[in-house]
Amino acid sequence: MNEDVFKNLVSHCKEYGFIFQSSEIYDGLSAVYDYAQNGTLLKNNIRQYWWQSMVQLHENIVGIDAAIFMHPTTWKASGHVDAFSDPLIDNKDSKKRYRADVLIEEHVAKIEAKIEKEVEKAAKRFENFDEKMFRSTNARVLEYQKQTEAINTRFKTALNDNNLAEVKQIIIDCEITCPISGSRNWTDVRQFNLMFDTKLGSVSDDSSTIYLRPETAQGIFVNFLNVQKTGRMKIPFGIAQTGKAFRNEIVARQFIFRMREFEQMEMQFFIRPGTQKQWYEHWKQARMKWHNALGIDEKKKRFHDHIKLAHYADAACDIEFEFPFGFKELEGIHSRTDFDLRNHEQYSGKKLQYFDPELNQSYIPYVIETSIGLDRMFLALMSAAYKEEKLEDGSERTVLALPPALAPIKAAVFPLVKKDGLPEIAEKIMNELKFEYHVTYDEKDTVGKRYRRQDAIGTPYCITIDHDTLNDQCVTIRDRDTMKQERVAIDKLHSIITEKVSLKNILKKAI
Ligand code: GAP
Repeated sequence: MNEDVFKNLVSHCKEYGFIFQSSEIYDGLSAVYDYAQNGTLLKNNIRQYWWQSMVQLHENIVGIDAAIFMHPTTWKASGHVDAFSDPLIDNKDSKKRYRADVLIEEHVAKIEAKIEKEVEKAAKRFENFDEKMFRSTNARVLEYQKQTEAINTRFKTALNDNNLAEVKQIIIDCEITCPISGSRNWTDVRQFNLMFDTKLGSVSDDSSTIYLRPETAQGIFVNFLNVQKTGRMKIPFGIAQTGKAFRNEIVARQFIFRMREFEQMEMQFFIRPGTQKQWYEHWKQARMKWHNALGIDEKKKRFHDHIKLAHYADAACDIEFEFPFGFKELEGIHSRTDFDLRNHEQYSGKKLQYFDPELNQSYIPYVIETSIGLDRMFLALMSAAYKEEKLEDGSERTVLALPPALAPIKAAVFPLVKKDGLPEIAEKIMNELKFEYHVTYDEKDTVGKRYRRQDAIGTPYCITIDHDTLNDQCVTIRDRDTMKQERVAIDKLHSIITEKVSLKNILKKAI
């Protein structure tokens, strides 16, 4: 784990106006964060990239914006009231609470890391590797593999049977200790529902209890027929939505990775029953392509098939990203069958079927869902972009090498000095560019210091106006990544910047 880099990244997010702790003046609220001036722009750009690739570039996908509050029966029908819970366990000595499944998964990950280390060590000693060494390495690797397989099988069975006593037994048998107290003094495992509830209106009896949505997907399901009919949509078609979701997470940590209030970008793709395998594969590949179009090292992403399927799925996988604290879920792709629509039909008593003119029959469509956390995507991008660099002249810089199209500010405009008409030219350039991109003006300190400030927030271009500009109508444009400076005519600025920061270039690779 690259703890130092992660700590530095978290501080950077605060120092440079990306993310603040919510209600910081009251010492903050656990696992709730506010997006600051630069963070908001970056978040908007990520959302726009997702929305345009989904809605604008797919003729058969439309977007909606459903309310956060929904009729409480929605959550009964969706299974969240009964099944949206995590198994929790407390350590009696430290009084710390953990997700039992996470404790076991982390234990398995540690054994897997040992396997990787053995293999790496063997590869390094390849030339002097004798048979005796080979046998002992092989024996250790096989033993570790046996252990992980045994734990995974037991764990999967326990979860499927909802056997919480067995989950606790696995924790005991694996000798998992509390990271705080170091003890194995555990309580029993209990299920904990993650939905926040509140009261609607002024009457506080049970019938007025409503939930803050734990996923945006249900707003799409309950509107399925409205959208299909009013949009004259033909299967296969999708409905996309971005918006807030709320979960009372047991263990909320790792900054914005796991929050209690977060934003999702979800798309439900409605298909003919029986075609789910093919569409599941399609969306798996399509979503990976979307991620890869951003130019982040492909080795930082991988698929991970779910061992335990959610209550609604017949197949599911995650796209995992290598965060500074390891590979973790960034996006989920789920084959949700007809579970949601069928249940909504049953609970509401309203038909939620599609008449397929080609088959001349009505059916409840199956659904493939793609679901990504906007905040997690933000963290993935920031972790990949954050670099502490040593330069050739011995100096250092911190740079955010964000994809230029997503950078909060596209260009910074600097007059070399605050006089001789240079600020006026800078202002004129700002006024030209600001209608297309977010641009910023800076006249304080040396140009070197101004470059550093822009590097730290990921601005792809800095434009400096100097005394020569008065005669030649040219400025110096400096590239964030190469740090190369070029003299260009003012009237070329627009096309140069547009070429580099246009979202179109990424969108073309994304679908
Ligand atoms: N509709 C399906 C669904 O909600 P999920 O795997 O529970 O599936 C989808 O969530 C995505 O939402 C995750 O891959 C993750 O990116 C994001 N997410 C889930 N819980 C989150 C949390 N507590 N904080 C931040 N993002 C979260």
